[in-house]
Amino acid sequence: MTASSDSASAVAGGLARHIPVLVRPAVDFLAVRAGGVYVDATFGAGGYSRAILAAAECTVIGIDRDPSAIAGGSELVQAAGGRLVLLEQQFSDLQDAATRCGHDAVDGVIFDLGVSSMQLDQAERGFSFRHDGPLDMRMGGSGPTAADVVAQASERDLAAILATLGEERHARAIVRAINRARGDAPIEGTRALAEIVAVVVRGRPGAIHPATRTFQALRIFVNDELGELLAGLVAAERLLKPGGRLVVVAFHSLEDRIVKSFLAERSRRGGGSRHRPEIEQAQPTFDVLTRRPIVADDAEVAVNPRARSAKLRAAERTAGSLVDGVPSGLLPRLPSLAEVMGRGRSQSSPTARRRR
Ligand SMILES: C[S@@+](CC[C@H](N)C(=O)[O-])C[C@H]1O[C@@H](n2cnc3c(N)ncnc32)[C@H](O)[C@@H]1O
Repeated sequence: MTASSDSASAVAGGLARHIPVLVRPAVDFLAVRAGGVYVDATFGAGGYSRAILAAAECTVIGIDRDPSAIAGGSELVQAAGGRLVLLEQQFSDLQDAATRCGHDAVDGVIFDLGVSSMQLDQAERGFSFRHDGPLDMRMGGSGPTAADVVAQASERDLAAILATLGEERHARAIVRAINRARGDAPIEGTRALAEIVAVVVRGRPGAIHPATRTFQALRIFVNDELGELLAGLVAAERLLKPGGRLVVVAFHSLEDRIVKSFLAERSRRGGGSRHRPEIEQAQPTFDVLTRRPIVADDAEVAVNPRARSAKLRAAERTAGSLVDGVPSGLLPRLPSLAEVMGRGRSQSSPTARRRR
């Protein structure tokens, strides 16, 4: 991966429909330097990768589980003159991605969580009730869709998903309405589901659409977004060199809580932890660089309303040795996608509150 002399500036321009959020502080916290290797774990439209490549003559490994994001990055790969490699992969496997690119350790890992504007805007992806489309919501192309979950999940599981991942107060009422509707005909479209929810949850002027929380919950569940996040953080901890930087931009309080708790646990000096009291953590693996999360200023929010809920946290990898395993107690107690699909709505067995 050799760099052409002016390739840093060549990749600085270019149009992307997704407007990256907090890109300047994100790249600053990554402390990009010439010769460094950085993983952009959520490539999307490549806004972060483009900024990292423009900051110094470095190398970027871009990962996205969405094949269309990887295909859309081909121009940037060309422009980067060998400094950008793209891989279709889940970021829980980012160690494997780096190894495949010949790197056992890297200088920085950055996550920009959630969905991209392109994913939201394509009706056929089924992420948004603003366009009618199939109730799909998968970021990658495999596994059960949101329609499968809505069709198969027991009332109890569905209510737990909406209440936990959507923080939806009306979860039970919504699920009763879904249950009545799916008894008549399968709920296969985004509009159909949004209309069922809107009958139960009254919208108020100026408030979010009544189906917003339901859609968010199903999307997070279908893609196991919180499980992926925790696995991604652990993988980044393993992959980063001492002095390497971790940067995470989260848009959802559940995500941000996981990032904050993970960093609090891994930066604690001496003794065990609330989550793993049995472990003597001699040395922390991270120093937290952001005592409070970085948020967007008014000017950025005015240009890009998505930025309003963004929270950036950053940390530096210490030389501390790794603790085995994934911290417990950081993920909400919910059945997995496989469990929900496996037992189906016909079975009334109590939800085994497994996990994680
Ligand atoms: C908010 S967008 C990132 C936008 C990007 N920073 C940019 O500037 O264009 C999030 C991207 O992460 C991807 N993604 C979400 N979860 C993922 C996971 N577990 N593994 C890999 N990619 C993931 C999504 O497919 C989406 O393209």
